[in-house]
Amino acid sequence: MSVGTAISRVWPTPATGPLNDPELAALYGRADRPHLRVNFVASADGAVTLQSYSAGLSGEPDKRVFGLLRMLCDGLVVAAGTLRHEGYRAVRLSEDRRAWRRANGLTEYPTLVVVSGSLDLDPTQACFADAPVRPLVLTRAGVDPPPGLTAVADLVRCGAERVDLAAGLAELRRRGLDQLLCEGGPHLFGALTAAGQVDELCLTVAPLLAGAGPGRITAGDSSTPRHLPLRHVLAADDGVLMLRYARDPGDPPPAGAAPAA
Ligand SMILES: NC(=O)c1ccc[n+]([C@@H]2O[C@H](COP(=O)([O-])OP(=O)(O)OC[C@H]3O[C@@H](n4cnc5c(N)ncnc54)[C@H](OP(=O)(O)O)[C@@H]3O)[C@@H](O)[C@H]2O)c1
Repeated sequence: MSVGTAISRVWPTPATGPLNDPELAALYGRADRPHLRVNFVASADGAVTLQSYSAGLSGEPDKRVFGLLRMLCDGLVVAAGTLRHEGYRAVRLSEDRRAWRRANGLTEYPTLVVVSGSLDLDPTQACFADAPVRPLVLTRAGVDPPPGLTAVADLVRCGAERVDLAAGLAELRRRGLDQLLCEGGPHLFGALTAAGQVDELCLTVAPLLAGAGPGRITAGDSSTPRHLPLRHVLAADDGVLMLRYARDPGDPPPAGAAPAA
């Protein structure tokens, strides 16, 4: 069990005492059908970065939940912009978390899925070169990979002018990646929202004012506003809030979502 800043549930039912990792994992859980969860951290005044990185917004409680969400997923989806900018490293999980995955019939590590229309990717970046599971790159037709990329990753091509996210996610599901965790960035989140693909948003709110300048957690394509019910509110002793919003399993897919196969 992880120790550090205590995290407690304050809504819907205040829980007594801090939550341990198994209790936290159970609160987030895995859905019983294909599911896309998006995870972001923002400041109280809505900034997605501090000095252009997310690290300044994130603390120990957020990192703990971030790691648990990785433990729970089949595929870890990240846009090329964030992968390049944040210098993504290979996905690593502690022995406890790998044991949890084995006990739950999952592969030891989730598969990294990089979304890139340009294929401007560096095959020597650690997320590819040191990956414990061969990553997938979701891209579009007619773009040539840089030398060495196909030695370290498999390309999945969906769409002509840009990456067709609905078709791409359907292909990931066909390959057994049902439970997807998207770690951003904002342009990918905006495009997934517009394509009606987002089932859940996990949002950490850091107790600080970043001031004007940084963008929001979403960017790019506009979409029709849609209600997303609140599922829980967790609070850490340092004032960080962790909010989970998810659509009802029985809800019809939102406008823009691909019809069920
Ligand atoms: N606070 C947080 O939780 C958090 C989380 C993640 C990122 N961030 C921050 O967000 C910033 C980066 O975000 P960003 O919005 O500039 O970029 P982004 O969403 O991370 O990446 C955009 C890139 O995704 C690829 N892409 C391919 N198909 C796409 C599609 N259909 N729709 C959208 N993107 C597609 C393209 O890559 P190609 O150029 O290769 O074609 C595009 O340039 C960084 O500062 C990072 O630190 C913050």
